[in-house]
Amino acid sequence: MLTTIRPRSEGDFWLAQTGGNSPALLFNPNRVRDTWRALQQALPNVTLYYAVKSNPYQSLVATLVNEGASFDVASAPEIQALLPFGVPTSRMIHTHPIKTEHDLETSIQLGVRSFVIDNLDELWKVAPYRHDITVMLRLAFVAPDAPIDLSRKFGAQPEDALHIMAVAKQMGIVIDGLCFHVGSQAKSAETHRIALLRCLEIAGDAASEGIAMIERIDIGGGFPANYSNQAVDFDGFCKPIREVMGQVPAHIQLMAEPGRAISAPSMTLVSRVIGRSKRQDDTWWYYLDDGVYGAQSGRIFDHINYPMTIYTEGGDRSAAVFAGPTCDSVDRFGDHDSLPELSLGDVIVIHEIGAYSIATACHFNGVAPPVIIDLEDTADVQRRQA
Ligand SMILES: Cc1ncc(COP(=O)(O)O)c(C=O)c1O
Repeated sequence: MLTTIRPRSEGDFWLAQTGGNSPALLFNPNRVRDTWRALQQALPNVTLYYAVKSNPYQSLVATLVNEGASFDVASAPEIQALLPFGVPTSRMIHTHPIKTEHDLETSIQLGVRSFVIDNLDELWKVAPYRHDITVMLRLAFVAPDAPIDLSRKFGAQPEDALHIMAVAKQMGIVIDGLCFHVGSQAKSAETHRIALLRCLEIAGDAASEGIAMIERIDIGGGFPANYSNQAVDFDGFCKPIREVMGQVPAHIQLMAEPGRAISAPSMTLVSRVIGRSKRQDDTWWYYLDDGVYGAQSGRIFDHINYPMTIYTEGGDRSAAVFAGPTCDSVDRFGDHDSLPELSLGDVIVIHEIGAYSIATACHFNGVAPPVIIDLEDTADVQRRQA
């Protein structure tokens, strides 16, 4: 059910959690711990590197630091943001396949030693640092069931892998790892399985031809969120990956870079109707205090149709459209053929909105993104979320 209607009075519970602030994101550290542990259990002997880009919120990072997590960063500023938490740079990998020379140099100065390339030009960038760093080669594998495809933008073709590794060897660059990202929000781990098998094959060929000794295979992200406020069955999802693990030689360490799966369930958006008007075709337009320039950019970037709970007394039903608080025409979402008439001040709650949301929010039109509130007592909220 994409839209749930509840009595308006129950919305007060959510406003009480935010201290009356709206829009606000409620951060629940228990959700982070639960998903991290569940994914860890589903992927035994795989070192998990949390993809900071999905949500760099400090309490989320702090929660993962307490879990002993490692971190996947995309830039030097992400490294700098982790340092105050005492994360050793040995527990960070820089996985952006295309870096500026400045970012590379700064990241190395900050102490990170593991980088990713996916083309020959990038080899020239890392070459000056070849004695200090190790490099993973990113390969492209397309997951037909992942709505957010990363295989076109990044990744060498698997058939080019040996050539790139051979050139790296001639340049004195150590390629000791292979990595991939099948695309975000994958429906199954079938492509992870196929890609891991292909990487094992390439690692075997590279070793037997004396080109490179692969010691790490990083299976990337792509682990999904449910968006239905129910825990993902990571054990079931990761089964295809576990089926291949027996074929991984002992000298190869497995790694993964989950982002969305960990950060999505950690935040709940509380927003309110701040304006309304009946426009053409008798359609009600409801304007919320948060939209696609705030926490809801995933509607555009990731094509997520977030389920919403609306707390309203409700009136006659009619067609309805929601819009965010900016003047941009793109800041609209959630068309309904038939919705009870809403009132100003009605509360709207969206769960599992922690991934790629506040991370991309901006002050377009001078409108501030939602404030983030750390939940102290999560029991009540978890009961309401169930
Ligand atoms: C290199 C890399 N690693 C990890 C991630 C996280 O992916 P996900 O959020 O699907 O787990 C991304 C997402 O864009 C990425 O580009």
